[in-house]
Amino acid sequence: MDAAEIKKLDKAHIMHSWAVNATLDPTVISDVDGVYLIDGNGRKILDFSSQLLCVNVGHKNQKIIKAIQEQAEKVCYVYPGFSYESRVKLGQTLAGVTPGDLEKFFFTLGGAEANDNAIKIARAYTRKHKILARYRSYHGATFGAITLTGDPRRPPVEPGIPGVIHVLDPYCYRCPFGSTYPECGIQCVEHIAEVIQYEIADTVAAVIIEPVTGSNGIIIPPDGYLKRLREICDENNILLIADEVMSGFGRTGQWFAIQNWDVVPDLITMAKGLTSSYIPLGAVAMCREVSSTLDEEMLYCGLTYNAHPLSCAAAKATIEVYREEKLIENARVMGSILKAELERLKEKHACVGDARAIGLFSCLELVKNKRTKEPLSPYNAMGKAAENSTEISKHLMARGLFTFVRWMFLFIAPPLSISEDQLREGLSIIDEVLDYADTLTEK
Ligand SMILES: Cc1ncc(COP(=O)(O)O)c(C=O)c1O
Repeated sequence: MDAAEIKKLDKAHIMHSWAVNATLDPTVISDVDGVYLIDGNGRKILDFSSQLLCVNVGHKNQKIIKAIQEQAEKVCYVYPGFSYESRVKLGQTLAGVTPGDLEKFFFTLGGAEANDNAIKIARAYTRKHKILARYRSYHGATFGAITLTGDPRRPPVEPGIPGVIHVLDPYCYRCPFGSTYPECGIQCVEHIAEVIQYEIADTVAAVIIEPVTGSNGIIIPPDGYLKRLREICDENNILLIADEVMSGFGRTGQWFAIQNWDVVPDLITMAKGLTSSYIPLGAVAMCREVSSTLDEEMLYCGLTYNAHPLSCAAAKATIEVYREEKLIENARVMGSILKAELERLKEKHACVGDARAIGLFSCLELVKNKRTKEPLSPYNAMGKAAENSTEISKHLMARGLFTFVRWMFLFIAPPLSISEDQLREGLSIIDEVLDYADTLTEK
């Protein structure tokens, strides 16, 4: 099929997510290779966001493809109540990379379902019901997960589920308390302790956080934040849930982002990098205390595709690829080059207010004015209000680079397999486009 035919059928039959479909003109992708996408006209595009920050190992990894093919030849499906080899092998392999004693898993199809099930598990274990989540967060689009979400994707679909309370973020660039680290004493985490007091600890089941916030602008917590949050949870018998759907699987230079601060949560939710998105799979990892308690009770969680044999085979192969190809080490090495280069871009360009990076998880925060920090596109902008970010995306695509420019954030999160030359190639395109973005700033 040629690109024009695909576009025609797309218009007729496909509803794309998070889009005003009538205004959408989606690029046709005809092939993929490593860190590149090939469009419908055969043009090579550098994938600087691993698609939806999920194809962590890069495109067309032969080991994962072969694992899926071989599993498909053997057994495609057995129901969740049966035991099956690819399931247990994945459980064993995954327990080898999760921190602490998080060694038992409930498998889902994606990240939102993992978060929904984590809520159920936390409520069942603690016999409490409230969940604290942060405002600058995204946890998925199912009703539970979108209620956890604090960002502007939530209000249009409210009311969601009861019992979710939002708290402020460790967003040092725009500190919600007007303070500066470290003199602030990490007020943002003490604020969570205060909210727990008001809500009464006996009603709060869990706090869910993205250890490094993803789609709300790569918010990296200051040192001490996560350790103190762990203490606050322990003091109040509240579970700590780390949503590692985006930050997990090497993205930050560790298997899981929370490991950068040596903190072990009670539950981890994951998806995306678990299979590098070659096939859908998510999971809730549970610590031994939670799983052993729930082992004695009916587990009120269920999915037809729970621990799907094909997905489990793909995930085991993916974890082996991270190890064999030393991708997490590469994320650290490339990440330090990236961090230095983003600092350079921040110094050079009037439009770059802040640069945040950890491993290959990074963004530039674009502003109209470095002093006032007025965003180049407002947080929550859509349509016409988002035209600055839309234009920047178009300029990047025109030069052969795909990444997300959403609200005031320009994300840089290429596959962990990227080479230094490829990284520098993409950064020089961004540098050029930032010259254009500088013309949008206040003189
Ligand atoms: C941190 C986080 N949690 C959950 C989700 C939802 O995952 P899914 O889209 O697989 O449901 C996402 C998706 O981007 C995410 O970034």
